[in-house]
Amino acid sequence: MCGIVGYIGQRPAADILLHGLESLSYRGYDSAGIAVREENGTVAVRKSSGKLERLKQLLKVQPVSGCEGIGHTRWATHGEPSDVNAHPHTDESGRIAVVHNGIIENYDLLRSRLEAAGAVLKGQTDTEVIACLLGRMYGGSMLDTLLELQKLLQGRYAIAVMCGQEPGRLFCVKSGSPLVAAHREGESFLASDIPALLFHSRDVLILKDRETAVLTNEGVQVYDENGRLCPRETFHVAWSQESAEKNGYAHYMLKEIHEQPIALEKTFERGNDLLRPEWLPVDRETARNLKKVTIAACGTAYHAGVLAKYALETLARLPVEVETAGEYRYRQPVAQKNELFIAVSQSGETADTLAALEEARKNGVRSIAICNTVGSSIARAAGEANTLYTCAGPEIAVASTKAYLTQAELFVMISAALGMLRGTLPVQRALEIRNALNELPKKARQTLLLQEQIRQLCERFSHCEHVFFTGRGMDYALAMEGALKLKEVSYLFSEAYAAGELKHGPIALLQSGRLVVAGITQPHVMEKMLANLQEIRARKAQVLAICPEKMADRVKPHTDEMLVIPDTDDCLAPLLAAVPMQLFAYFMARIRGCDVDQPRNLAKSVTVE
Ligand code: AGP
Repeated sequence: MCGIVGYIGQRPAADILLHGLESLSYRGYDSAGIAVREENGTVAVRKSSGKLERLKQLLKVQPVSGCEGIGHTRWATHGEPSDVNAHPHTDESGRIAVVHNGIIENYDLLRSRLEAAGAVLKGQTDTEVIACLLGRMYGGSMLDTLLELQKLLQGRYAIAVMCGQEPGRLFCVKSGSPLVAAHREGESFLASDIPALLFHSRDVLILKDRETAVLTNEGVQVYDENGRLCPRETFHVAWSQESAEKNGYAHYMLKEIHEQPIALEKTFERGNDLLRPEWLPVDRETARNLKKVTIAACGTAYHAGVLAKYALETLARLPVEVETAGEYRYRQPVAQKNELFIAVSQSGETADTLAALEEARKNGVRSIAICNTVGSSIARAAGEANTLYTCAGPEIAVASTKAYLTQAELFVMISAALGMLRGTLPVQRALEIRNALNELPKKARQTLLLQEQIRQLCERFSHCEHVFFTGRGMDYALAMEGALKLKEVSYLFSEAYAAGELKHGPIALLQSGRLVVAGITQPHVMEKMLANLQEIRARKAQVLAICPEKMADRVKPHTDEMLVIPDTDDCLAPLLAAVPMQLFAYFMARIRGCDVDQPRNLAKSVTVE
């Protein structure tokens, strides 16, 4: 989604803004632009639709100079991607430049009021409305104007403003969408996302909702909605700048797939001992009284939730409902006494997941979050004490890989720990799971050795235009994630079906030239799966089975191709099996010439609903 950067200091702003925008480009965008305050006080705006390269070319022809500026990558919401709709937008005088993330929900009303008052707006964006309003409201202090503006805006937003009349200052305000700032030796920086600041500083200031900040080359000052100065501490980011770079890999996605062993290790070693479950944000009494768990999330995080349903039901004997957050938030869910709500998100900024969490809290449901990003909106909404962190490190590729695996791992840990608290999990079984979790990073490393075999399989199956994913139990959850991964990076039609459902309709689609990827990691349903494979092959579709070593001999006669993963505990086997599915999606996308890290139409962090 959209990205914001800002810079004020002594160095040429354009280069720093472009560098910042590049580091945010993983979020997905369709146009980009910058505004720089030039020596003579004019606000120079350069923007264009398309990728950053186009903006760079434009800047070569029409350079800008100045040491203060704001920049933006836009992912179109209001208005098509075009030069005119690209940010920054200026007010009618051209002296105030604005960039904005989020959606202004009362934009239509504000626009009609402005037009009725004689304003002529050039594009279709809600951001231009903000710029126009600011211009008309401005009375000499942009800080005061922004405090007033907030009273008019409805929706979620992060806004950065540069005002020609107030040199040496940049302004920003936020509600719902993230903004972070940093200061170091005569320079201040602003961004919508931490990776854009890491190159400059790892000590960042995270703005809270309805706060306004003023950046100068002496520091960052934060004001509350009443204009009172709020002294704020900075937050030290554990992620290094290198962790947000490709480090020799062809793509972020491949790098992040390979970072999974370490991400699993860090998440396990965070001190969350299954046998001493005090780290859970629920105590023994609450755990024992729980009657239901509800999990809400989007996309891949939702699939981690589907997997968790099986783990929670088996290990903690709890009924679980898993729902996409966009559905949960609008269906007037019936809150139950002794219910636990879990929001799951890598970014911690997904608008629907945040809203679902807010809805659960509003209804008085005990709520916790699983999150990968410290200080994110979801972590803050749940409260630090109610947030369990995955330790995947920055995930840059749009296709989530290491975040998924660590979410699934953390869910198994939570399920076992809750099982211990509730007395549903024998200590011996908890010990087995703990040992298996300890071994999991090593097994994930071994699984990555399948890479070349998978690449060759992808060459072989590259002609398939339709790929089905199937499995039973936890492997059905795995199939859902495998299908999502493939469709989002390779644009192939791919769909997941529970193996038991194939006969109830989807089997009509099976024919020669179609591929079915089957996860077979659960011994208790293996024979049922093998029967399903026979049905699939009888329709001339091809089968690629993924199974652990201990099942390989039994599976082999029933499949065309097979990927064998190391043996592990049954409740962790689907996690290892996810790795070949990720690599399969990656190589299919490469063979088909797709933009692996920034697939079309997708954004990394979906901050609008
Ligand atoms: C996964 O590959 C995605 N691109 C997407 O489905 C993602 O998982 C979803 O948007 C949720 O994001 P979050 O985990 O940051 O909340």
